[in-house]
Amino acid sequence: MNKSLVSIIDYNKDEILSILNSAQQFEANPNNDLLAGKVVATLFFEPSTRTRLSFETAVVRLGGKVIGFSDAATSSASKGESLNDTIHMVSCYADAIVMRHPLEGAARFASEISPVPIINAGDGANQHPSQTLLDLYSILKTQGTLENLNICMVGDLKYGRTVHSLVHAMSHFNPTFKFIAPEELKIPEEYRVFCKKNKINFSESVELNDNFNDADILYMTRVQKERFQDLMEYEHVKNVYTLHNDMLDNTKSNLKILHPLPRVNEINMDVDSNGKAYYFQQAQNGLYVRQAILSKVLNVID
Ligand code: CP
Repeated sequence: MNKSLVSIIDYNKDEILSILNSAQQFEANPNNDLLAGKVVATLFFEPSTRTRLSFETAVVRLGGKVIGFSDAATSSASKGESLNDTIHMVSCYADAIVMRHPLEGAARFASEISPVPIINAGDGANQHPSQTLLDLYSILKTQGTLENLNICMVGDLKYGRTVHSLVHAMSHFNPTFKFIAPEELKIPEEYRVFCKKNKINFSESVELNDNFNDADILYMTRVQKERFQDLMEYEHVKNVYTLHNDMLDNTKSNLKILHPLPRVNEINMDVDSNGKAYYFQQAQNGLYVRQAILSKVLNVID
């Protein structure tokens, strides 16, 4: 059976909790031979630091081997080879494929033609499920629960795929969302419809200010320059919100600030030393969560 992870909605609540439980075990013991003899391909048609390197570290620390490319310009895609043919070829060499691609739906297409599991490492502005699982792990670690939390999401909620996946995933846990974005970057209608259909409370605002004082999680995001057709529009919104340390004075004691990274100007460096900043630990958690994902799709754990 092909156990691809294309969208977070591919996993039900029990499967999500099982991954988080496995991640906890990998955090306690990140080095073993679970993937000995396995080859994992990382195909990155778009730039990445955290996702690619944490997946590759996850494989290596579990005793497996990595092949792949970090830049499509060095692959035969640059000569015109189709995604169909690339996936057919790489699946001859690898036991699983981790793929980032600029086109929405590329990972779903790959999963439908590939004989080996596909892990979506981000498809355009659509979904980034492994990021979501590490976000959930970070929320669980810092809050002690995933249930009944106030989650404030800030920035580019239109193109931010991590936001889209997180809205879906948190729907299992009765969240209350506050979406803070400029008009141009509001969360797409399909996610508002999703919240209404699933009876999830949410509100929207264009103001950051102290609009997050009741939040348990403040999820900051970068304005996704690479998704804009019109760079003038990007210039208009690129610095719309910047979080500074003094804006955290009246926030809840349990608040944690998450950001999928990379950041540009959304979080001033004076926040980094505040105990509420958690984005670097969040990225580290990605290693353990990706070890859990790889182990699941490669069927080396239950
Ligand atoms: N969070 C994330 O996807 O980071 P990278 O683009 O560096 O992989």
